[in-house]
Amino acid sequence: MRITYQSALHLSLPELAELHTAAYGGGWVSKPDKLADIFRTQNVDLKLSLIAYDGRRPVGLALLGRRRAHSWLYDFAIAHSHRGKGLGTRLLQTVSREAAKAGIRDVELDVWEKRDDAIRLYGRAGFQHVRTYLMFQATGQQLRLNDSDLPAEWQITPDLVETVIPWYAAAEGEPEPAWDRRLPSLLTYGDAQVMVLVDAEGMAACLHYAARPAAGTDPNRIRPMFVGLRQGAGLLHLRALFYAAARNAFGQAASTTFRIALEPENSSLAKLLQDLGMSVAARAFDMRLRMA
Ligand SMILES: CC(C)(COP(=O)(O)OP(=O)(O)OC[C@H]1O[C@@H](n2cnc3c(N)ncnc32)[C@H](O)[C@@H]1OP(=O)(O)O)[C@@H](O)C(=O)NCCC(=O)NCCS
Repeated sequence: MRITYQSALHLSLPELAELHTAAYGGGWVSKPDKLADIFRTQNVDLKLSLIAYDGRRPVGLALLGRRRAHSWLYDFAIAHSHRGKGLGTRLLQTVSREAAKAGIRDVELDVWEKRDDAIRLYGRAGFQHVRTYLMFQATGQQLRLNDSDLPAEWQITPDLVETVIPWYAAAEGEPEPAWDRRLPSLLTYGDAQVMVLVDAEGMAACLHYAARPAAGTDPNRIRPMFVGLRQGAGLLHLRALFYAAARNAFGQAASTTFRIALEPENSSLAKLLQDLGMSVAARAFDMRLRMA
């Protein structure tokens, strides 16, 4: 096996999706339009991303996002035929070395805590577990969201996605969000929406989210990506925003599923979501590689 590496810029989107599909195996299908969306919202840098070739056949990919000197491993896969031979470790080492040459100072990634194989591999390449993310899930029925969550004097209205900017700035004391919930991502999701809540004291809260209708095995769902709360605002405001977002998207809240991905475990929102009655559906590790 003679392996060479080339920038992902040399493959078209359909070719990348085909390689992505083949490398994962197991029936999952990567779609060019979905990949294009992800590349945009996660700032995937195709020049920095690498494809591994066995002769002329692409057999592995490492897709890297870039924001200034920071980088993020969006995805990483090796074709079944080439696994277990050290190629994954070498591709990760090569892409990190090339990123460092291009001025990157750190690479981050998230990995499901039960993926022992991937965690070992990332560890071999020098990544360290720096914190844990929580994934929350519950239906409106489990959260008992209902009309009474909207006191008559509160006003909840849709607003421009850019409304999230001052709320994001005000949340500076909170742990940094995961890569795809940072401001550049929040402002580029094609289907992002924002609701703002005004109570008797004025602007009290904002919810940035995507409402995704049922598809395949996924139910109708609201995916909150950022929550802003004025000091003193809390559970009631959050309940009201969740209820309004579900009702606006699907006409009712009870059978809507709320999913929050990659919430840092020590954030105020993580505590609030637990107080709201949401259960932790999974945990993931935030792993980082610091360049020498
Ligand atoms: C995770 C993944 C990228 C690993 O790729 P890989 O090329 O098999 O990785 P490596 O060969 O470097 O390491 C795999 C194992 O082979 C072992 N190995 C390394 N070099 C070897 C060699 N020359 N001969 C035999 N075994 C070797 C490693 O020690 C490792 O063993 P371990 O699991 O006990 O730690 C691959 O399984 C994959 O693409 N999975 C699907 C996509 C995915 O899950 N991506 C990660 C998302 S978090």
